[in-house]
This record gives sequence, C-alpha cells and structure tokens, in this order.
Amino acid sequence: MKFILNHDLVEETAPAADTTLLRYLRESQRLCGTKEGCASGDCGACTVLLGQLKGERIHYRTVNACITPLAAANRRHLVTIEALGSGGKLHPAQQEILDNHGSQCGFCTPGFVMSLAGLHQQLLAGDCLQTDRAQVCEAVSGNLCRCTGYRPIIDAGLKMVQTLDETHRLDARILIEQLASIAEAHTTPYYLQPKSREELEKAIASNPDARLIAGGTDLLLEVTQQCRPIKKMIDLSGVKELHRIEERKGFIHLGAALTYRDLETFFAERSSRISALLERIGSRQIRNRGTLGGNIANASPIADLPPLLLALDACVTLADSRGDEREMPLADFYKGYKATALESGQYLAKVSFPANALNDFHWLYKVSKRREDDISAVMAAIRLRTNKSNGSGNDEVFSEVRIAFGGMAATPVRVAKAELALLGQAPQDESALEAAVTAIAEALLPIGDVRASAEYRLQVAQNLLRTAWQTFNREKSENSAPETLHA
Ligand SMILES: Cc1cc2nc3c(=O)[nH]c(=O)nc-3n(C[C@H](O)[C@H](O)[C@H](O)COP(=O)(O)OP(=O)(O)OC[C@H]3O[C@@H](n4cnc5c(N)ncnc54)[C@H](O)[C@@H]3O)c2cc1C
Ligand code: FES
Ligand code: FES
Repeated sequence: MKFILNHDLVEETAPAADTTLLRYLRESQRLCGTKEGCASGDCGACTVLLGQLKGERIHYRTVNACITPLAAANRRHLVTIEALGSGGKLHPAQQEILDNHGSQCGFCTPGFVMSLAGLHQQLLAGDCLQTDRAQVCEAVSGNLCRCTGYRPIIDAGLKMVQTLDETHRLDARILIEQLASIAEAHTTPYYLQPKSREELEKAIASNPDARLIAGGTDLLLEVTQQCRPIKKMIDLSGVKELHRIEERKGFIHLGAALTYRDLETFFAERSSRISALLERIGSRQIRNRGTLGGNIANASPIADLPPLLLALDACVTLADSRGDEREMPLADFYKGYKATALESGQYLAKVSFPANALNDFHWLYKVSKRREDDISAVMAAIRLRTNKSNGSGNDEVFSEVRIAFGGMAATPVRVAKAELALLGQAPQDESALEAAVTAIAEALLPIGDVRASAEYRLQVAQNLLRTAWQTFNREKSENSAPETLHA
C-alpha cells in the first residue's frame, strides 16, 4: 500500500489487516504526537486527518486513528500533528490554543488541534462555510479534555476561524500530483479494497473467511477493546455502487456505504429532524467514517438509525457473491440480539424507503447522558399521517402510525399494539393516546444496564410518545407544516 504521510510518500508491504493507524504512527513511525487515550473512538486524543483525492481536490476528514485501520490510508494523505506548522510558524489552530490558554496537561491538545485544523482546511477549501460557535463546537465534538475546560478551547477555535491563513493550506499542488500517481496502489491480500460491486463479489467469493468492514467504528473495537485479532478484511468503503443515492419511482435508495457525513448532506434540505438526529450520532470523527450499512448490520439494539428507518417503512437489500439480491423489510432483518438475516457471503447493499414518508410528521428523540458522542439509552422514532375519516365530515383520523424504539428490546422494534391503538382515532383523542402508552408497557420489557434502569427506559419511552403526540397536535393547531420536504 502507498500513501503520503505528512510530506513523504510511504510504501508498506505487509501490515497486518488489523493494524490501526494509531499503532502504526506511534510504534512504527515513532510519531508520538498522536496520543492514545481510550482506544475506542471516545476521547479524540488520537485524531488525525485523512485526505482523499476526488477529481482535482483533496478532501480532508478527521478520523480516530485508534479505530481506523492503517490500510484505510492507502492512496490517501495522512496528516499528523507533527506536520501542521510550516515555515517555522505554528498552524493557526496551535497558535490560538497557545494564545487562549487552551492547554494544561496537554494530553488532549494534539487531538483538539487536529480537529480544529480539519475545520480550518475545510473552511479554506470551501467544504464548510460556517464560522460560528456551533461550527467550532461541532468540529471538537469528539474531543475530551479533563483539565483545561472547554471555554478557552472554543475561544481558540473562534479566533482561528476569524483569521483563516492560506499559507497553512494542506492540499498543496505537489500532493495532488503525488496522490494521483498512487491512485491504483493496492493493499495486501489480507485487506482487500474492491472498487465496484463486481470486485466486491469476487473478493467475497474467494475469501469466505474475511470480515466485512466499512468505517470500522464498530468492528475495530473487537481489536482494541476485546483483543480479538481480525486476520482478513474486505473494505466496502471504496465500492462505488454502495455510495449511490437514488430517488426513483417514489422511493429513496441509499447505498450501504454512505457515511453519516454523506447522510448529513442528503437530509439537510429534506428533514430538519433527521438532520438534528444525525448531529447527535457519535462525534465529527465517527460521522466521517461510520456508515449506514454498518449501523444496521452491526445489529446493536441501541443503534440510532434503525428506529428511524423502521418508522419510515424501510427495506434492506441483501446481495451475495453471485450478484443475487433479495429485499426485505428492515423489521424482518433483525432475528434477535446481535443476529440478522445476513447469511455467510451476503452483504447489505442498500436501504430504501418511500419518499413520501418524509412528508409525514416524523419526530425523533435520542435520550443519552451527554449531548455529543454518547450512545442512546432510548431512541424513539414516531411517524404520524392523518386522513379525512370516512363518512364523518371533515374530521381527521390517524391513517398511518409508526412507533419505533431503540434500547427497549434485544433489537430495534416497532410497537404494533401501540400503533393500532392510535390508528383510525382522532389526533386529539387523549384516551387513544393513553391506550397506546399502556400498550408500550404491555409489549416491551426493556432491560436495566449501566445506561438506564428498565423502569426509566419504559417511563421515558411512554413519555416520548406523549411528547410526539403533543408536538403533532401543537404543530397542527399552529397551522404550520410539520416538515418542509422536497423528496
Ligand atoms: C465513539 C463512538 C460513538 C458512537 N456513537 C454512536 C451513536 O451515537 N449512535 C449509533 O447508532 N452508533 C454509534 N456508534 C457505533 C458506530 O459508529 C455505528 O454503528 C456505525 O454506523 C457503524 O458503521 P461502520 O461503517 O463503522 O461499521 P463497521 O465497524 O465497519 O462494521 C460494523 C459491522 O457491520 C458489518 N458491516 C458493515 N457494513 C456492512 C454491509 N454493507 N453489509 C454487511 N455487513 C456490514 C461489519 O462486518 C461489522 O460486523 C459509535 C461508535 C463509537 C466508536
Ligand atoms: S484514543 Fe481515544 S479516540 Fe482514539
Ligand atoms: S489539557 Fe489536560 S486533558 Fe486537556
């Protein structure tokens, strides 16, 4: 594999498939400015930038080096803290942290600096246009500091975005040329990077023992947290068909390898509530790598997208190494705790849902202890549609009701009994609402764990349904469209 490490072209011939970027940087390259805190994507101390050549430009994204495989750097520009300054001057992110007293023990500082440098580069390149506090906070949402406190760090970020410095652009012409020259570099036979579905299917057929990896934000935890080596992987992130977004015949089709970052762009103009949910998934670094397909296939009961997709009536398309496909409702995909309908040799190709479901009132709520970078205790997704009732004048009734939760059972679930309690009833009918609330308790038996007790989960899920129902009625009475959508 070939990549540019800071200013130098590097070739590595035999890294183990599960070597992480962090191990490689610290142990092989002795670039120890990149720190190891949690080794699980939670603290941001290991943040580095990966630049990918697309057309004539390099797009840089922050990633957690601790859970990114080294092989993901193939054909990329890998930037670490050691290379940020230039011409004897600190990078503006470094200078502002210094000037604003944004560092005490300094352990978290390289990670914060890299996150801010990522924002600096994106602003210079026009990849990002916002220079406000919210944007700075978003950029450092995956970085934890134990001693300085966040105010001076955010102040440093705000100063940095006010005075962008072109001399610190990372995407020099020479780097673009170098990346173009290694565009066909291969990884090892233990880490395959197919570029098309055809190549993927061949790779799966001839490597039945390989694990599929997309962003690795779940998979690599097996290596760093459970010390379970993964000897062979097939990387889905370069398969072009798995990045497709199509809108046809009334359906939206989303390729399984789309990252949260891609979804942020897609939903930005389509649903403010889905956009708000995406902002609460992981951190900037996690959203740069984590994918739609990984979130579904990992089959975690507390994954955030499956409840939303259940509420949208989504179907998943499974494909295999012969190119055969089968589509099934997402509800049928989950077979039990961490168990799915995926068979050996199959992969998740895309997710589809009716475009008009986005025109309905949909309400999403993630309950977690922290706003940023935290896993849900309960995740609710509720979709409501009304129609004029048959034969009773202009009165409206619920004609479509979807109530889905994460964190309430061994898999993400829809609560059919609660949906039935509302279906055909008037939106203002409080007794129907309370019947639906009772049905949640009858249908679900959540467990208690470190995130929340069983009683808390149940109470919260019931209250979330009440809040969604009240929000629906409030928005209706205010005569404001529930969502503006252009699906
Ligand atoms: C710090 C941190 C914060 C997180 N926060 C959240 C959060 O807020 N909400 C949330 O829901 N999740 C969160 N996650 C979990 C994770 O980021 C998501 O589930 C993410 O979507 C996984 O996608 P991935 O591409 O990284 O999956 P990977 O790790 O690459 O894969 C996960 C599993 O799915 C399989 N797989 C991946 N793609 C496919 C495919 N197309 N077909 C078949 N199998 C496939 C892999 O083989 C593997 O078993 C967090 C993780 C971390 C480390
Ligand atoms: S070491 Fe904590 S996110 Fe990587
Ligand atoms: S300065 Fe010590 S952890 Fe942030």
